[in-house]
Order: sequence, then C-alpha cells, then structure tokens
Amino acid sequence: PPLSNVVGLPDFDFIARQHLAPENYTYYRNGAAGEWSYRNNLEVFQRVTSRPRVLVNVSQVSTTLGTTILGQNFSAPFFICPCARGEVGNVNGELGLVQGAADGDILYIPSGYSSTPLGELAAARVANGSYEQTMWPQTYLTSNDTETQIYFDEIAAGGFSAIVFTIDSAAAGVRHRADRFGAGSVNTAFDGFTWEYYEKLKTMTKLPIVLKGIQTVEDALLAVEHGAPAIVLSNHGGRNLDTSPSSLEIAYEIHEQAPQVFNQTEVLADGGVRYGSDVLKLMALGVKAVGLGRPFMYANIYGTEGVRHAIERLKFEVMNDAAHLGLQDIHDVSMKHFKWAPNFWY
Ligand code: FNR
Repeated sequence: PPLSNVVGLPDFDFIARQHLAPENYTYYRNGAAGEWSYRNNLEVFQRVTSRPRVLVNVSQVSTTLGTTILGQNFSAPFFICPCARGEVGNVNGELGLVQGAADGDILYIPSGYSSTPLGELAAARVANGSYEQTMWPQTYLTSNDTETQIYFDEIAAGGFSAIVFTIDSAAAGVRHRADRFGAGSVNTAFDGFTWEYYEKLKTMTKLPIVLKGIQTVEDALLAVEHGAPAIVLSNHGGRNLDTSPSSLEIAYEIHEQAPQVFNQTEVLADGGVRYGSDVLKLMALGVKAVGLGRPFMYANIYGTEGVRHAIERLKFEVMNDAAHLGLQDIHDVSMKHFKWAPNFWY
C-alpha cells in the first residue's frame, strides 16, 4: 500500500505481516517464550491514563520537540534502536534507516549485527549533503580484548561519538515462535561480563559507553556508581527473558526508589513504544529519549521514505498529545499529567 495509507506506527506492523515471508516477519516480531513481556511492553501504556489540562495556551508546542542526548541535538525525543538483520526487511539492509534518521534528524543506533557493514553505514551518513546523522554503534562484544580494542578504534576512527554496549543478553533468548521455523540455534554461550569489565572497557576508548538493557533500580544505581554516561532501560523488546519488566515499569521503580538516577545519568528507554502518548509517559518519569525497534524495521520495508514517514507520524502524535495534556513545552511533562494507579502493572 502507498505510504499515505500509513496513518500510524501499528500500520507498519500490519503491512510487514502481509508483505514479508512468514519466517522473516517472525524474526522481527518474535518475543521470548510465551511472549508475555512482548505483549506487556505494548499494553502497559494503556494502564496509565492521561490527565489532560484545558484552556492552556499550547500554540507554540511544536517548537519544543527537539532534545539533547549526550550533548548532541536531535529534532525529537525518540531514536531508532539497534536491530539486527535489516536485510530481512529490505535488500538495502540498514541504508534506509541511516538516511531516514538523517533526514528526520534523529539518533540512530545501528546494531552490531547489522546487514550493512559499519563502514558503509558511515559513508551513508551524509544525507542530501546537508548534515551528518549521528550514529552510536551498538556492540555485543566478545571476551577477546584485542578484538574489542580493534573494534573500539574503528568506531572512533569512523567519527562516531558514542558506543552502546548491550548488557541484557548474557544468554540467548528462548524464542519459541522463531524456533518453530527452525530458526533456533541452540546457543549455549553465556557471558562472563561484569561491572569490573565495564570499568576496563572504559579505559579502552575515549568515547562514552552507553549501557543498554538495565531492568532494575539496583542496576541503574550500579550504572551510576560505575559512571555510565547514559543507560537504556530495556528488556530487549521482550525477546530475551519472558516476564522481564517493560521500561515504563523499570522507570517507575527508579522514580519511586531512586529518582536521583534521572539526574545522575541520561536515562533512555525502549520497548513497545508505538504512540505519541507512550513517549510522553516515559518522559514524565524522567526518561530523556525513547527508542523504537520493530516499528522502524517494518518501516524500512519502504526504505528511506518509510523511515521518514514513521518519524513524521510520531512527531505529529507527540506534539498533538502534548497539546491535549496542556503542555506548551513537551519537556514540562511530569507525573501529574498521568494517573499512576497504585499497581498499574498486573
Ligand atoms: C532487537 N534488539 C536488539 N538490541 C540490541 O542491542 N542489539 C541487536 O542486535 C538487537 N537486535 C534486535 C533485532 C530485532 C529484530 C528486534 C525486534 C530487536 C532490541 C532492540 O534494540 C530494542 O530493545 C527493542 O526492539 C525495543 O522494542 P520494540 O520497539 O521493538 O518494541
């Protein structure tokens, strides 16, 4: 269908399901085991209701979408998450994601398992000759320090400005849905990584190393203690441990038990974000910017145009929802704009 028929991010999922071969759609869509975390990531937002304030002048809200993450300016408080295997959705791999992010002026975190080599993505960064897209390469790392050093040096030489270290994948996810297609490889490799190892990694590069995959207040506090410049609250899109919490629940736990974390490191979050109000709910708790994985992978079926369209639709929704909440500036969103039931999770 033409992109003009795509009115919101869930439409891209619907189109992907029809357009992609079942095993390919399943690779993207898949959650761990019984997929409760996958569903909860989506549904948790609907358990928090809004408290719209009326007769507030919101005429300038559209000028306030931009944000700063690790000192870099972006046009919106959302970004593209690292997702492996872009070629599953588009023969051009991740090129559409790079160009789309550049055109939309948002952050793109390319996966360490991207289909397009990092060098090619770097070369594609300059979009329309007008400005550079900021990319922070994601990595899973091996325990081979020589390899890690070479990789870190390559990233620095490529002009990238941060590294994202994914720490929620100590083991492979248990993925029944994909395994039914015979996609399951029995991966019995388990990480030996520790907080001490993170300290060592920091000595191997001048670039900030963002930690992706924090799921408890305890680990958020440890990340602060170990000087993480930014963290991503994430249960990996519900793909790793079923019954792991959504980032909204993690952010709420931190807000209740250690709210200072939001001032001590830059807190990002991802998982299940599909609507403008989802973005605002995470921001209300203190999250600076919100990532989306699957919606952009599905949008990338259309390449650059699709990614650009997804960004435009989400910007439109964030602005409109903020205006309805009575926000002149989206960054003024706070806990009082939503009703947090005592147990908004089940
Ligand atoms: C991922 N994710 C992921 N994360 C990461 O750090 N490195 C990776 O290579 C991948 N690969 C990957 C592939 C696919 C197909 C998906 C759907 C996800 C997790 C990703 O970065 C992010 O945490 C979630 O996708 C966010 O949830 P939503 O937006 O997909 O619901």
